[in-house]
Amino acid sequence: MAKQILVTGGAGYIGSHTVVELQNAGFDVVVVDDLSNSSIEVLDNIAKITDKRPVFEQFNLADRNLTASFFKKYPNIEAIIHFAAFKAVGESVQKPLEYYRNNLVSLMNLLEEMKSNDVKHMVFSSSCTVYGQPDVLPVTEQTPRKPAESPYGNTKAICEDMMRDYCATNSSINCIALRYFNPIGAHPTALIGELPVGVPGNLVPFVTQTAAGIREVLSIFGDDYDTPDGTAIRDYINVVDLSKAHVVAIERLLNGKQKSNYEFFNIGTGNGLSVMELVQTFIKVTGVNLKYKVVGRRAGDIEKIWADTTYGCNELGWKAEKTVEETLASAWAWEKNVRGIK
Ligand code: UD1
Repeated sequence: MAKQILVTGGAGYIGSHTVVELQNAGFDVVVVDDLSNSSIEVLDNIAKITDKRPVFEQFNLADRNLTASFFKKYPNIEAIIHFAAFKAVGESVQKPLEYYRNNLVSLMNLLEEMKSNDVKHMVFSSSCTVYGQPDVLPVTEQTPRKPAESPYGNTKAICEDMMRDYCATNSSINCIALRYFNPIGAHPTALIGELPVGVPGNLVPFVTQTAAGIREVLSIFGDDYDTPDGTAIRDYINVVDLSKAHVVAIERLLNGKQKSNYEFFNIGTGNGLSVMELVQTFIKVTGVNLKYKVVGRRAGDIEKIWADTTYGCNELGWKAEKTVEETLASAWAWEKNVRGIK
C-alpha cells in the first residue's frame, strides 16, 4: 500500500490548501480534524479541485487513546503535517488552559506515537509570533525569540521547544517548524478559503466581510505607530504559496536533505505591508467601496514585522510567487462565492 501523509487540521484554512498541494504533487493524504473550527464540506471542495477526496477521520488529537488507535488503523503513515490547533489570540487570553491542553497535548501525543509507530517525519505549524516585536528588521531565523504576548503565542514557542528537545534525544525523529508570517487569500478556484466562525479577528476576513456587507465598517487598529503611514506593518503570505512550502518541507525530510533533525524556517514574502496599504490595494483591485475608520490600537499588537526569507528560500528551494494584488483578489472571489455574490 502507498505511503500516506497525515495532515492534522486538514479541513482548516491552511490545512485544506496544503492537502490540495500534496495531492497535486502525488501524495496520498489522510486528514484528521475534529471539525471544531471547520466543516466537512471542505473535503468535497478539495475533491472538486483535485479529483481526489482525502481519507478522513474525525477526532481530537489531544485524546491519547484515539490518537493511538488511529496509528494502529493507519500503519502506512510516513510523515505528518501538524496544523490542528486553536489559533485565536484574544480567545487564548480568556481560555488559557484550553489552549495549552489542546495545542500542547496533541503535539505530545503525536510525538509519542511517531516513536511507537516508526513515523519519522513531522512538519509543524509555527508562527512569527515567537519573535514578538523584534529589535531588528527583517527577522532572520537567528533573530532571538521573545517571551510570548499571549497563551496562543506561548503554545507555539513551547511546541517548538518540545520538538527541539525530543529530537535531541531521538535521532530517528525529524521535525521542521515553519514560522508563518500572515497567511491570507484563497485558492484560485474560490472553492476553499478562510471561513472564520463569528466575527473575524484577522484583518483580511474582516475586510472581505465588510466588502460583502456583513460587517458595517472595518476598524483600523491604530495609525500612530512608528511606520511611514502610522499603521502597523506585516508580511502577508499567500496561502497557496505557504501550502507549497509544506510540500517542499515534507520532500526535504523524505529525501533526507535536512541539516539536523530539528529545523525551523521563516515562511513569508520578505515584504512588509501596512494595514492602510493593504486596505487601499484591496479597494484598487476589487473596485469595492470599502468603509473603514481608524480607531485605537488593539491590545497585544506589535508595530511591525516582516521576514528575511533568504535562509528558508535557499534551503527549501521555495519562494513566495503571488502578488498581494492577486492574493487579495482571491480572498474577495472566495468571499463572494461563499455569500453568493455575483
Ligand atoms: C495574529 C498573531 C499570529 C497569528 C495570527 C492568526 C500575534 C502577534 N500575531 O497575527 O501569531 O498566527 O494572528 O490568528 O499574536 N487589524 C485591523 N483591523 C482588524 C483586524 C486587524 O486593523 O479588524 C490589523 C491588526 O491590528 C494588525 C494587522 O491588521 O496590525 C493584522 O492583524 P491580524 O490579521 O489579526 O494578524 P496578526 O495580529 O498580525
